[in-house]
Amino acid sequence: MKSQFIIKEATAADTHYAEVIVEEIANSAKIRGTGIAKRTPDYVAGKMAEGKAIIATTKDGQWAGFCYIEVWSHGQFVANSGLIVSQNFRGHGLAKQIKEATFNLSGKKYPAAKIFGLTTGAAVLKINSELGYKPVVYAELTQDEQFWSGCKSCVNFDILTAKKRQNCICTAMLYNPAWEKNQSPKRTQWKQRELDKDLKLFERWLKFKKTILLKRKDKNNGK
Ligand SMILES: CC(C)(COP(=O)(O)OP(=O)(O)OC[C@H]1O[C@@H](n2cnc3c(N)ncnc32)[C@H](O)[C@@H]1OP(=O)(O)O)[C@@H](O)C(=O)NCCC(=O)NCCS
Repeated sequence: MKSQFIIKEATAADTHYAEVIVEEIANSAKIRGTGIAKRTPDYVAGKMAEGKAIIATTKDGQWAGFCYIEVWSHGQFVANSGLIVSQNFRGHGLAKQIKEATFNLSGKKYPAAKIFGLTTGAAVLKINSELGYKPVVYAELTQDEQFWSGCKSCVNFDILTAKKRQNCICTAMLYNPAWEKNQSPKRTQWKQRELDKDLKLFERWLKFKKTILLKRKDKNNGK
């Protein structure tokens, strides 16, 4: 299955895929019933033209997956955002390959930057953990106003505001290249058993967090 895809740095020649990517991101968020920072096709196309995105296609040119890079706090932080795999190609390790390619591109372009992401998904938590990310509190992420204003289009933005930007439904994960210098072996090497156990715990934690935060939100809305 892997060899059926081309995974590469996107360029201006790929901008015609922007519409289908944005549509898939929005549809998937609706299906999952989760919040999401909205992206426009122009924004996604811009990322491709700037060389700040990874795209996957089939060999005959069908779009398969995408992820892009955002730079915050004057280059101190990099976010790998908008990970999406076409519903036609899920469950074959494509997200893992795209995320790894985006992670490597981030390291190549911004070697000193901390790489982070916000996620509600167990798949992303797993992929990030394998890349060496660790869960962190929101205070360890960029405090760049522009980054957080991206959350305004998310259905859970009122929770983020009520929690004074210290918590929300998403889990924050961060990779710091400085860890490489102090750590042996180089990256956090998870034992599969530990990771599976932690993921089960994460899913239970997320469920609990949603119950508490969303219940409070409904109460405040008078439901
Ligand atoms: C999440 C998403 C990107 C995964 O894409 P994918 O190509 O199917 O994922 P992969 O096949 O690379 O799976 C990576 C790992 O996550 C696991 N995984 C995949 N989907 C999962 C799910 N829904 N729940 C738990 N684990 C999952 C896989 O088993 C795999 O682990 P393994 O290496 O031990 O087998 C895809 O489902 C998607 O685009 N969803 C909608 C958008 C989204 O949720 N994006 C993330 C926003 S933070």
